[in-house]
Amino acid sequence: MSSETIAIAADHGGLELKRVLSGILRAKGMDVLDLGTQDDASVDYPDYAAKVVEAILDGRAARGILLCGSGIGMSIAANRFSGIRAALVHDVETARLSRQHNDANILVMGGRLIDDEIAKACLDAFLDTAFEDGRHQRRLDKIA
Ligand code: RB5
Repeated sequence: MSSETIAIAADHGGLELKRVLSGILRAKGMDVLDLGTQDDASVDYPDYAAKVVEAILDGRAARGILLCGSGIGMSIAANRFSGIRAALVHDVETARLSRQHNDANILVMGGRLIDDEIAKACLDAFLDTAFEDGRHQRRLDKIA
């Protein structure tokens, strides 16, 4: 997993959490594709959701992370794209299930709502949990 590229982006509401999580990913030795935003000026979350989606769909990144104030806008925007399974998570259990049952390829969190330590634990669960396949793949096929 250490050579896997992770794309990450945030709007102004998720910027601080992006800084925290990017540092953790780099400390783990992962390649981080940081697609912005880089300052606290107000921006539109769909623009940043699209950047991470494009990075995954064109193969520059294996998985992604999207952060906005609540996580809701980013998850709505990213899930408009075929092939994207963006999971808005709030705790380790939802992060783990997003991988086990849903094969989520984008982790979404709300920077204004989630505690940093919980967000770090969610990131670990997202990175370290495998998809269970089987009946879960059948359900994903129906979505696709
Ligand atoms: C920005 O103020 C805020 O609306 C955005 O970060 C996000 O929470 C939208 O869902």
